[in-house]
Amino acid sequence: MNDTFLRACRGEKVEYTPVWIMRQAGRFLKEYQEVRATVDFLTLCKTPELASKVSLQPVDILGVDAAILFSDILIPVEAMGMRLEFHDQKGPVLGEPVRNKSAVDKLVVPDTEDSMPFVLETIRILRKELENKVPLIGFSGAPWTLATYIIEGGSSKNFLHTKKMMYQNPGLFSALMEKITATIIEYLAAQIRAGAQAVQMFDSWAGILSPFDYENIIFPYVKKAVKALKKMDVPVIYFVNDCSGLLEIAKKSGADVIGIDWRMDIAKAIKRLGKKVSVQGNLDPCVLFGPKEHIDERVQDLLGKAHTARGHIFNLGHGILPETPVENAIAMVEAVHKYSRI
Ligand code: CP3
Repeated sequence: MNDTFLRACRGEKVEYTPVWIMRQAGRFLKEYQEVRATVDFLTLCKTPELASKVSLQPVDILGVDAAILFSDILIPVEAMGMRLEFHDQKGPVLGEPVRNKSAVDKLVVPDTEDSMPFVLETIRILRKELENKVPLIGFSGAPWTLATYIIEGGSSKNFLHTKKMMYQNPGLFSALMEKITATIIEYLAAQIRAGAQAVQMFDSWAGILSPFDYENIIFPYVKKAVKALKKMDVPVIYFVNDCSGLLEIAKKSGADVIGIDWRMDIAKAIKRLGKKVSVQGNLDPCVLFGPKEHIDERVQDLLGKAHTARGHIFNLGHGILPETPVENAIAMVEAVHKYSRI
C-alpha cells in the first residue's frame, strides 16, 4: 500500500512528499458536478454509494496520496438536533441558532452508529474500493469552529453572537463546548473504528480568536479531543486556519500534524512548531490559477522550505476553490512528486 502519507504524519522516512488537497472531493471536478446534478448536497452526503464515488474521484483524477471521506463538518451538528439546510448562494443554514440554556440543554451527544450510519457505511465502502491504494482520512470540525456555526446559525462576519456568549455567559458557553467536544470524540472514534486511517479536525475559524481566548477558552477542548483520539493509534491532523498568531499554542495540541494556512512562510512555521510535529500545507489556493511554470516554481520553493520539518504533507493552505482548473491541480500533484524525489 502507498502509506507515504501516514509515514509523513508520523515523521517517518518517506521516498517523496505525499500530497492531498483540502476539499479535493468537490465542485472543481466536473465528475462531481455530474453526480451533484442528480441529488442535493445533503442527499449526496447521506447516500454511501454516491458519497464514496465522489471521494474516489480525486484519487483517480489527481493522483493524490490520500482520500478524504465525502461529508460535511455540519453533519454531526444536525445529529445533535439542529435543522440543517444548504443554500446554493448562502451556504449552510442552521435553525434555530443556539443562544440560551434551554437550547444548549436540548442538544444531544449523538451516537454515530444510530444517527449517522451513512458516514460509517461510506467509510466501509471506501476502504474496500481503495484496496489499500491510498489511506483514507476521516474528519470533523474542531470544537470552536462547530460552536460558531451552532451559535451563529450559519457563516458569519464578526461572530458576535458566539463571542458574546463566550464573554457574557462563560458557563453556558463551556457547557456547549463540552457537548460539542464529546460529539467530536465519539464521531471521529466511530470513523476510525469503521476504517478511517487518519483523522483531521478543521479549525476553519480559529484565526478570528485572540491568542488569549484561543489559549485559555478554546484550546483545552482541542487538547481533550486529541488526547481521546490518540488512544486509537491513527494520526491526528489539526488544521488551524489563519494560524500565524496561534502556532506556539497549537503545537501543544498533541496532534501528529499541524495543518497551516498560506499566510505565513512555511520555513518560519516549522521553526516555531519544532521537531515534535509534522506540518501540512501551505500553498495559496489561488496559485493554481496561474501558469503551470509558476505552479512548478512555487512547489519547488515550498518543498525546499519544508525539508527541515519532521514530516511534511503537501497541501493547499485552505480548500481548493470551485473555479480551479483541474489540469493545474494535476500539475501541482505531479510537481510535488517529481521535485520531492530529487
Ligand atoms: O475535503 C473534501 O473533499 C471532503 C468534503 C468536505 C466538504 N466540506 C464538502 C462540501 C469537507 C472536508 C468539508 C468541510 C467543511 N464544511 C468546512 C471546513 C473546511 C473549510 O473549508 O474550512 C466548513 C467550514 C464547512 C461548512 C460548509 N459546507 C460551507 C461553509 C459550505 C458552503 C460553502 C462551500 O465551501 O461550498 C459547505 C458546502 C459544501 N461542503 C460543499 C461541499 C462539496 C458544496 C456543496 C455543493 O456541492 O453545492
